[in-house]
Amino acid sequence: MSGTKQPLELAICMGSSCFSRGNKRNIKLIKEYIERHGLCGKVVMKGHLCEGLCKDGPNLTVDGQVFNCVDSATILALLDQHLKIQE
Ligand code: FES
Repeated sequence: MSGTKQPLELAICMGSSCFSRGNKRNIKLIKEYIERHGLCGKVVMKGHLCEGLCKDGPNLTVDGQVFNCVDSATILALLDQHLKIQE
């Protein structure tokens, strides 16, 4: 019965402001995290264009919930939190 869980969906703002303010590094961290924990298939990463929220960036959406000012510590904590919840 398990195994039908939806993957965690991460939508990363790839607009130039968010990208240069931290999402470039966040993407790298997320990829490393997925590899390290063997989460391929459990996490889906998508990029999206600027949504006009640049001043609060870097922005990232986790399962439809928007997070602002996401730095490397925040992204790792979010992944831990969400993937544990899904267990
Ligand atoms: S660049 Fe991300 S909201 Fe504008």
